[in-house]
Amino acid sequence: MPKKLVILGAQWGDEGKGKIVDLLSENFDVSVRYQGGSNAGHTVVINGVKYVMHLLPTGILHPHNIGVIAQGMVVDLKALKEEIEDIEAKGNKILHKLYISDRAHVVMPYHKLLDKLFEKKNGVGTTLRGIGPSYMFKFMRKGIRVADLFDQKVFEKKVEENIEFVKNIAEKVFGEKFEIDTRYIEEEVVKPFEFLKDRIIDTAKFLRENSKSVIFEGAQGTLLDIDMGTYPFVTSSNSSALGLANGTGLSPKYFKDACIYGVAKAYLTRVGGGPFPTEIHGEEAEKLREKGGEYGATTGRPRRVGWLDLVALKHAVEVNALDGIILTKLDVLDGYPEIKVCVAYEYEGKIYKDFPASLEVLENCKPVYETLPGWSGSTKGLTDISKLPANARKYLEFIENYIGVPIVMLSTGPQRHEYVFLREII
Ligand code: GDP
Ligand code: IMO
Ligand code: MG
Repeated sequence: MPKKLVILGAQWGDEGKGKIVDLLSENFDVSVRYQGGSNAGHTVVINGVKYVMHLLPTGILHPHNIGVIAQGMVVDLKALKEEIEDIEAKGNKILHKLYISDRAHVVMPYHKLLDKLFEKKNGVGTTLRGIGPSYMFKFMRKGIRVADLFDQKVFEKKVEENIEFVKNIAEKVFGEKFEIDTRYIEEEVVKPFEFLKDRIIDTAKFLRENSKSVIFEGAQGTLLDIDMGTYPFVTSSNSSALGLANGTGLSPKYFKDACIYGVAKAYLTRVGGGPFPTEIHGEEAEKLREKGGEYGATTGRPRRVGWLDLVALKHAVEVNALDGIILTKLDVLDGYPEIKVCVAYEYEGKIYKDFPASLEVLENCKPVYETLPGWSGSTKGLTDISKLPANARKYLEFIENYIGVPIVMLSTGPQRHEYVFLREII
């Protein structure tokens, strides 16, 4: 294993990052989340007990692993407190080995309210966790950082200014009455802060001075990246490898010897609005959704489903300079007589092999498919590579040939032990 390992989403999120990070983080001393917030839902199943990680890095579930919430995240302090309490109630003590960045921004209750109002107009299909508005305040230079909570006067002044601003938007732009009781802020932000206070440090300094092994866990996925994804149907952070430096506060030099692997599903899903060239509908979609259990880990929303899109996956390989792919949910494709794979897009008579920036093209293109034979044997829970059905192996080879990097690991079920390495992770 490398000393610095990055695991991030190579599609539109929910690729199975949680399961993979849980497995790999056993080999690391420190695990870091560096962007996004409680919009993420990373599922882990350990000895039949299910955990859904929203703000905490998944690795913290290992007793020896130190967790870091770095400065690029937007943190809902109440949600974080509850997440910690839920895990501790399952007998796993973690608060004492968590560090939270003093530079991270705080998701305020009025950010969630704005998320709801903006959704009425934009229809991005956000998770309504206040993520977009929190980043908006950050870039407007009006955000509240964790460090501000140490000084009551500074905090109250900023909140007062923010409330005035939000009131104006709510009432003048959306015609909605807006009132917020400051006792609410006390419950949602100040009290959770008191609970977490001792865990707040300069996490960038901690990481710089720490020569231990570190695993970085991306949230969302490359196609939801604010710059490289299907803008504006994206999240509000750099969820590709582009977010590593600013998200952690570490120089790009720090990452020069890091390995970066992308997690991808053997098919494709997305939650919320936006283009999805290989989306399938009707009964066929229903079948895949049920078989894959494709319902949001954070919101419970049914996920849109479709065939694997190699144009989009190759984009993720290139954007992140991936060392390889970790392919999940291969077992869900068991029993399909045929499997389609998208190898190009066609739009107005032109063939696209590079993922286009234009939303117009992405929304109206026709996927060009190759149809591969399925396999009759089961890959569910497979741990012995020699038992992989021949056509499943051909499917993997087809993907590798197209994207130009190896598939290093396969996940064949939601549980910790359901995986097989195809190559060493180095
Ligand atoms: P994340 O956001 O990328 O961590 O992914 P989610 O946890 O939102 O969604 C992935 C879902 O697939 C979860 O319910 C996992 O338990 C499940 N899962 C992960 N890997 C596999 C796999 O290889 N096979 C199957 N059948 N389920 C998997
Ligand atoms: P994990 O880490 C899948 C999607 C939302 C919406 C868009 C913007 O579990 O893979 P936001 O609330 O971030 O402003 O919503 O991004 N989205 C996700 N989709 N998995 C996620 O996280 C997601 N986080 C946000 O559905 O389309
Ligand atoms: Mg998820």
